[in-house]
Amino acid sequence: MKIVDFRSDTVTKPSEEMWEMLRSLDDSKIGDDVEGEDPTVNKLEKRAAEVIGKEAALFVTSGTQGNLVSLLSQTNPGDEILLEELSHIYKNEVGSAARIGGLMIRTYPSNKGVPSFDQLQKLIRDREDIHEPPTTLFSVENTHNYHGGVIIRPEVIKDMKEFSDKNDLKLHLDGARIFNAAVSLKVPITEFTRHIDSVMFCLSKGLSCPVGSIVAGSKEFITNARRYRKMLGGGMRQAGIIASFGLIALEQKWIDRLEEDHKNAKLLAEGIESYDLPINVHKPETNIVIVELKKNVRIFKIVNTLGKDGILAFNISKEKIRFVTHYGIFEDDIQYSIEKISNVLTNYLSA
Ligand SMILES: Cc1ncc(COP(=O)(O)O)c(C=O)c1O
Repeated sequence: MKIVDFRSDTVTKPSEEMWEMLRSLDDSKIGDDVEGEDPTVNKLEKRAAEVIGKEAALFVTSGTQGNLVSLLSQTNPGDEILLEELSHIYKNEVGSAARIGGLMIRTYPSNKGVPSFDQLQKLIRDREDIHEPPTTLFSVENTHNYHGGVIIRPEVIKDMKEFSDKNDLKLHLDGARIFNAAVSLKVPITEFTRHIDSVMFCLSKGLSCPVGSIVAGSKEFITNARRYRKMLGGGMRQAGIIASFGLIALEQKWIDRLEEDHKNAKLLAEGIESYDLPINVHKPETNIVIVELKKNVRIFKIVNTLGKDGILAFNISKEKIRFVTHYGIFEDDIQYSIEKISNVLTNYLSA
């Protein structure tokens, strides 16, 4: 049976060019990265810092680890940090900021990832009051996963930076999919990162590497992050073997390939929407399509039935099914899936 896997862009397998890059490695291209001696990792970190527009970068095992080392490097235990209420760090990183970082978490509501600054101001603690924990970090997610891959515009990030400076906060970007934002708006990636103190982006999502993420920021930040990565068990020795895929992922043509995923997401959304069903299909800005059910049905049954039909997706709430397009899903897969999805939705929703 044909399987189309829309569960996440994390399921991607490497491209042929990536495998070739791996095959081109030999002893001279790998070394002990904990000692800073792996030429391939060093090359990737240098390239990543250039691309993202920061002084320095660090290769980490995952997005989760990258976010955590960023938080640990810029806060002290007992500080309070501001996280968006549906953010990945808050919802899906096992509470590591609290458990490992000793951080108090204050969530903020938002309109698709963007808070009201007036409301946010009210959440800032009084540094002069000895009873209160200091608020020291503000985190944003771009593109925002649970809000359906929506983009936070560069001009809004500039406002976020002004807000952060005014309140003496570090500004962290969970940019797991920040390249999707840049490609979709056709804006240089540095427009999204120039006002950010620390950024994490994933190589292992739309950029299709099998493993790894990058954190980037000032040299001082990266020195700290390296120490915390070691503390978390992320010192990976001959890591050039896995870092090598990232050198292909950061080539401009590979970054630009994300546009295909966006086109496919648009096709999928339009195709599903063309059926007259009690659903709201969110207009995708990048590679995530959210189908929101207007009827009260057991969503997991729909997702299970889709799965039995070879269409894999996740329900991200009681009403929303998420479809993520990525490398390995082509236009004919989209046409094929639209029919399958509409059949299943019709069966469940038109009764
Ligand atoms: C927005 C966001 N941040 C961080 C992560 C964590 O990345 P990883 O799965 O590599 O730990 C994810 C993973 O899906 C994500 O969607």
